[in-house]
Amino acid sequence: MSKKFNIGVIKGDGIGPEIVDEAIKVLNAVAKKENIEFAYKEYLMGGAAIDATGVPLPEETINGAINSDAVLFGAIGGPKWDNLPREKRPETGLLGIRKALNTFANIRPAIVYDELVDASTLKPEVVKGVDLVVVRELTGGLYFGEPKAKEATKAYNTMVYTVDEVKRIAEVAFNIAMKRNKKVCSVDKANVLDVSQLWREVVIEVSKNYPEVELTHMYVDNAAMQLIRNPKQFDVILTGNIFGDILSDEASMLSGSIGLLPSASTGGTTGIYEPIHGSAPDIAGQGIANPIATIASASMMIRFEFGLIKAADRIDNAIKKALKEGYRTKDLSAFDAKIICNTKEMGDVIAKFASE
Ligand code: IPM
Ligand code: MN
Repeated sequence: MSKKFNIGVIKGDGIGPEIVDEAIKVLNAVAKKENIEFAYKEYLMGGAAIDATGVPLPEETINGAINSDAVLFGAIGGPKWDNLPREKRPETGLLGIRKALNTFANIRPAIVYDELVDASTLKPEVVKGVDLVVVRELTGGLYFGEPKAKEATKAYNTMVYTVDEVKRIAEVAFNIAMKRNKKVCSVDKANVLDVSQLWREVVIEVSKNYPEVELTHMYVDNAAMQLIRNPKQFDVILTGNIFGDILSDEASMLSGSIGLLPSASTGGTTGIYEPIHGSAPDIAGQGIANPIATIASASMMIRFEFGLIKAADRIDNAIKKALKEGYRTKDLSAFDAKIICNTKEMGDVIAKFASE
């Protein structure tokens, strides 16, 4: 009997549907090969949900996600919904589902594929071999802190972290480091912010339970600079919500395109797996988006949530093979392309290689 896994699918807006379709194509290819069964159920979120139901995060989507074994998500947002009040915006749907599922740990690996070393805007010797992971706190900090308000002549948000919130994300980072190169760099702004001072104290406390892991601290401005100067010094970067948002976009450019990097939002009821990039409304509907970040997210999902190591390896190796053979979507086409392909063709070739 084959194993069956229930995947909640949120395609979202912009290029979301196009890239999620390719990830499903690849999942189905490995399912067939490995005698696994994936069942998919679609839910609405973001602009698509606003258009259909009037709200960015319908109750049905939250319940559906809770009842899924994992959620595969594309991207949300677009100019069509940009002028709505904050509580009605697509982004509020995404923040809402993270909070509702309590997915406090956002894991964002940034690796540089050897085949794409020349695709980076940085020198090959700087980026070759980069393999780091940003562990971003996802349900606290500046994104959620109270008080917050926009008034007529002033507006404010508050960066809040409790000891427990820092402790649990730090533990995630140290556990990941134990399986990697045993280095954690905690990024904060402790020279200015009280919240960062507490962050640092808690991280130091947690580190005492991981004597094998080397802990360093870096101010976020320095970290932004070091990521470009010498990214290979990093193994695990542990940081809060807003700093992690910014640094993970920065880290993605080491790899050549933000269209390559997957992410996992975990630690809560159900894990959400999504590319780190957005909905790219400027290229939506053209069929040219790079589906690799979403396909790699699907691989992370089946590896970490379902323990399907062989199937996940198939996908990761298929991505590498496609790149190695010179398949490039438009975002990468200036670099070393042998075959320029559209979204569907990239999905097809990865699905094919994953079934070999
Ligand atoms: C991300 C995105 C989101 C964030 C937006 C769309 C709310 O930029 O997942 O990094 O800021 O967390
Ligand atoms: Mn972001």
